[in-house]
Amino acid sequence: VDKGHGVKGLADLGLQTLPKQYIQPPEEQITNSIVIPDDAIPVIDLSKWPNPEVANAICNAAEKWGFFQIVNHGVPMQVLENVKEATRRFFAQPAEEKNKHSKDNSPSNNVRYGTSFTPKAEKALEWKDFLSLFYVSDDEAAALWPSACRNEAIKFMKESEVVIRRLLEALMKGLNVEEIDQEKESLLMGSKRINLNYYPMCPEPELTVGVGRHSDVSTLTILLQDDIGGLYVKKLDSNEWVHVPPIDGAIVINVGDALQILSNGRYKSIEHRVIANGLKNRISVPIFVNPKPSDVIGPLPEVLKNGEEPIYKQVLYSDYVKHFFRKAHDGKETVDFAK
Ligand code: SIN
Ligand code: FE2
Repeated sequence: VDKGHGVKGLADLGLQTLPKQYIQPPEEQITNSIVIPDDAIPVIDLSKWPNPEVANAICNAAEKWGFFQIVNHGVPMQVLENVKEATRRFFAQPAEEKNKHSKDNSPSNNVRYGTSFTPKAEKALEWKDFLSLFYVSDDEAAALWPSACRNEAIKFMKESEVVIRRLLEALMKGLNVEEIDQEKESLLMGSKRINLNYYPMCPEPELTVGVGRHSDVSTLTILLQDDIGGLYVKKLDSNEWVHVPPIDGAIVINVGDALQILSNGRYKSIEHRVIANGLKNRISVPIFVNPKPSDVIGPLPEVLKNGEEPIYKQVLYSDYVKHFFRKAHDGKETVDFAK
């Protein structure tokens, strides 16, 4: 199907029917019946930070939803607009330009342009192209990241550092961790990856998905989405899927598996998925805030101090991530690796 032109290449052909490789099994197809009112996901105004009420709202949202949106977060609007524009610019390039960063051509594993998720392991492919950039240093980014989007991606990462630290401070206080020392800093935000996602307009969108059910392997994910919508989150302890409505200027935050493990299950890494859209192209830009690959993660001692039994064992973070990338998106299964 894909001759190196990505899903965008297929969309650009103007296909009227969905190639069969993309047809998801019926239970994974996302129908209109799941569209339920979308005002449920908490929206937290950070303008009053460090008011304890704000910190409380963050911890509550992380426990009850695992997903929330933040407004007045301090990341300049222009930075957000610029990285969205850069994402469109990168994917608008000719295939041969993008393919310089594909698995076969990229000089580094830290830069990867691709399509779907784990095409070899997927029963059905996902209707999405992506560029994934693991951040090592400004120098490496200058040498290896595509020039179409490099500066804007780095700027978004850097300008979101303050708010990421605030969120993690609040979440740690909620676990009786008063200070983020060097060791905790590494566990919570020791490495970062930024993805640029492109979901082209899709023929027969109801038969496929943009992204299948999964939870993230991060501690926190900072997600910028455009105004199209289509991200759905599984409500805790239910089978309802709730839409995360685009809010101009807001950033979506979600708890990832690493934070669920560190918090011994207090903060929830929630299943989510993205529908395909029959009318419009959609982009999103997540920053995955992760432990260092060489860190060993497990429930924090502060959490277990009061005699709480650990739900998870200690695992090497790079092993955890390897396990995630070996298989297709399969809901919340990854976290069992730490049990
Ligand atoms: C993802 O969770 O993999 C993508 C989220 C999005 O595009 O909104
Ligand atoms: Fe995700």
